[in-house]
Amino acid sequence: MFSKNVYTNRRNQLKKLVKTGLILIPGNDDAPMNYPDNTYHFRQDSTFLYFFGIDLQGLAGIIDIDNDREIIFGDDYTIDDIIWMGPQPTLNEQASKVGVSETRPAKDLSNVISEALKQKRTIHFTPPYRYRNILKLADLLNIHHKDVKNHASLALTKACIKLRSTKEPCEIEEMERHMSIAWEMHTTAMKMAQPGISEQKITGVLEGISMSGGGIISFPVICSVRGETLHNHYHGNILKKGDLLLVDAGSESPLHYATDHTRTTPVSGQFTDLQKQIYQIVLDANDRVREATKPGVPYLDVHLLACKVIASGLKEMGLMKGDVGQAVAEGAHALFMPHGIGHMIGLDVHDMEDYDDTLVGYDEEIKRSTQFGLSALRMGRRLKPGFTITNEPGIYFIPALIDKWKADKKFTQYINYDKVEAMKGFGGIRLEDDILVTDTGARILGQRIPITVEEVEQITGTGV
Ligand code: GLY
Ligand code: MN
Repeated sequence: MFSKNVYTNRRNQLKKLVKTGLILIPGNDDAPMNYPDNTYHFRQDSTFLYFFGIDLQGLAGIIDIDNDREIIFGDDYTIDDIIWMGPQPTLNEQASKVGVSETRPAKDLSNVISEALKQKRTIHFTPPYRYRNILKLADLLNIHHKDVKNHASLALTKACIKLRSTKEPCEIEEMERHMSIAWEMHTTAMKMAQPGISEQKITGVLEGISMSGGGIISFPVICSVRGETLHNHYHGNILKKGDLLLVDAGSESPLHYATDHTRTTPVSGQFTDLQKQIYQIVLDANDRVREATKPGVPYLDVHLLACKVIASGLKEMGLMKGDVGQAVAEGAHALFMPHGIGHMIGLDVHDMEDYDDTLVGYDEEIKRSTQFGLSALRMGRRLKPGFTITNEPGIYFIPALIDKWKADKKFTQYINYDKVEAMKGFGGIRLEDDILVTDTGARILGQRIPITVEEVEQITGTGV
């Protein structure tokens, strides 16, 4: 937990932004895995963590702006709980650590909400994403569960995005501290990348490193020799000579801040000339992105810059042709990079995506495109100091997409399909860092994980 004044200050700022009404922030509950008492690892809701900080099940917080009251609802543990769980602090003790003096039993929440509804007051809540909270809100607000999301508060959602987008120094410190675990995860994967080892074994070790560093993984590990599948969660392959192993993995810090990095490693210990050529284009794009990232610059422009670096590299190799600027403007490069250059990162790996990724990444000035590839860019708006974002260019040869575009004769003026055909089976390369927008530019959070051709070849397959 951060210090008390961090949470008090956040709630005060939220009140100023939302101005009137009652803000309801439900925490998460345990979710059963296969029977009620055997639950998934508990993960607290990020909005609750941000404003109320308590990392426990069964809680809800309200901020009654008009009556200047803040209450945390929840039940103290009974003696039966304590027998199984050991001694627990009271809710009141927990609440006082985050500057909240009033706590009430969980059952009182419905009275408070129904009283507010009788008075026709606005109840603000952000869009729920867990079914249990959707059902709870439906009961509390007397609305059909299918209609709950339509009642979410745009004013509250926008206020939360405004506050959470700019990371406070204590958050940056927490994120930066945890980057050493990301470094250990990825360098370990590189060292383990040898012919004969399974993706599953590496995945298990990565999850273990995350856990021993203080937290669960921040999203399911992507560890695959079929890196052209963007979110490949199949771990059944055995690595062999000539493969490229793509590992996209992150860890949650003890206070639940995410890391998210990708590295691509030659299983043979050395890149082939062809692998090196493609790798170097992706690395150039990654470096150019970081150099171009500064306050005031739309991340959309940085994304397009990365696309141009990729398209011109592919043109030099004869895989693309024609005018690079025009090819990128029309979206031809998306055959090779169908995703965005990055997203916000913080308490969530795709930060605040429960609210709505378009609200997080776009605004009145910069609107989200519907063009294939560009539409997948989650973060397009102008950057500000304190934003933490990912920088993750990639080049992929996706057989099904190549076949489709070729059959549709798509962008034949920009794509040399004969040469691209020969790249089927190559796989994919992505290189991802987490970066902080500073007052004058951007810097990588933590020590950079080995990334140059020389650095990667030096460490790959050395064993752990
Ligand atoms: N690391 C997974 C993603 O950014 O989508
Ligand atoms: Mn990412």
